[in-house]
Amino acid sequence: MGSLCAAAAQNMSLCDKYTTALLTENNATNQYILLTLLVNTVVIGNYTQPNKNAVPGILAKGSYEGEEVDLLPYFNGSLKSNNRGGASGVAVNFLDDGGAVPLMMNMPANGTTSNQYFLLTHLYQFFGKLLACSGYDTMGFPKYSGQDMASSHAFMDLDPSEFGYFVTQVGLAATSFGVTTDDVSTVATALQKLFGYRCSPKVAVIPEMGPTLNSICQNEKCPLDPNAQCSAYPNNGVTMEPAWVDGINMTAPSPTGTMPSATTTGAVMFSGGASVERVAVGAIVGGLALAIAM
Ligand code: HEM
Ligand SMILES: *[C@@H]1O[C@H](CO)[C@@H](O)[C@H](O)[C@H]1NC(C)=O
Ligand SMILES: *[C@@H]1O[C@H](CO)[C@@H](O)[C@H](O)[C@H]1NC(C)=O
Ligand SMILES: *[C@@H]1O[C@H](CO)[C@@H](O)[C@H](O)[C@H]1NC(C)=O
Ligand SMILES: *[C@@H]1O[C@H](CO)[C@@H](O)[C@H](O)[C@H]1NC(C)=O
Ligand SMILES: *[C@@H]1O[C@H](CO)[C@@H](O)[C@H](O)[C@H]1NC(C)=O
Repeated sequence: MGSLCAAAAQNMSLCDKYTTALLTENNATNQYILLTLLVNTVVIGNYTQPNKNAVPGILAKGSYEGEEVDLLPYFNGSLKSNNRGGASGVAVNFLDDGGAVPLMMNMPANGTTSNQYFLLTHLYQFFGKLLACSGYDTMGFPKYSGQDMASSHAFMDLDPSEFGYFVTQVGLAATSFGVTTDDVSTVATALQKLFGYRCSPKVAVIPEMGPTLNSICQNEKCPLDPNAQCSAYPNNGVTMEPAWVDGINMTAPSPTGTMPSATTTGAVMFSGGASVERVAVGAIVGGLALAIAM
């Protein structure tokens, strides 16, 4: 009988249940570490040991129901797909503060002011609330400080394959830490319902933000929400494919200095050079191996 059984018997949230199972002490600090492990694995693929299965991660090319998917251009500054308040999208490099290297050390970024830092910490916070961490918005677990989901993804024109690939990586990452099939499917169903339909009406996801527009899958191929309110969305919910940064394929920047470029990041992630970082992972979350091995 491991700690997971004890946690389940207390009817804890998924966040609290798996913090207890994997990190033993269920407090805000450890809940934030759990979300860091989960989100970092979703982004760069599995990097912790031991694990139950491989996770390619959302930056790796893949496929979903036969459709090829490549989400990297949305993150490496090649697509004008980000909402910075204007009428159209702008290109932003979210791998601008160390790329995969700090993630493999259980950090969001090398520094605390980069695009990478804000994206990763916002993901920890947001998924922490979705998974109902009891320590959310207490010392050690900052509350979500990003935009609503419709606004953040408004210029991405994400389709069901891109959305499905992302949700699959969340599921694979959770499974790799020992999350049960039932719990993974609970989360996947919730993600699909909240964010996977076109033109969904306002719903409160982050309670302190009040009701917000949340459709992430907003391409015409996305299933229409049964309660669709397209008029609540910009341009009546019609999105346009984001443009590529001019000349991106002609002027691929060559890596300089010690900062890995987004392209070299892909090589760093799965190369044998990861052993140094893995020592750091083991040192920070020493309880992980025991919990998974039970
Ligand atoms: C269940 C699905 C998803 C959830 C819950 C989710 C959640 C989030 C959250 C919480 C943020 C931070 C927003 C902010 O800081 O204001 C974000 C940003 C972002 N997401 Fe997603 N996301 C999902 C799917 C996707 C997919 C499929 C893509 C495909 C490329 C994607 C690309 C991005 C990008 C590029 C950003 C940065 C936006 C910016 O800061 O301007 N997301 N997402
Ligand atoms: C367990 O928690 C769920 C969700 O918070 C709640 O609906 C349910 O009534 C709880 N069950 C017990 C036995 O406390
Ligand atoms: C949570 O527990 C860990 C030990 O497992 C401790 O280092 C940390 O300070 C605690 N955090 C809080 C907020 O109590
Ligand atoms: C990812 O997981 C697979 C399957 O458990 C494993 O073979 C591989 O070594 C892992 N990769 C890393 C970088 O830890
Ligand atoms: C971003 O990713 C795309 C697709 O994988 C790649 O073709 C492009 O060269 C990358 N751009 C940069 C600036 O790394
Ligand atoms: C990481 O941050 C430190 C201190 O801010 C800086 O000296 C170093 O150059 C940074 N490294 C990378 C790879 O960005």
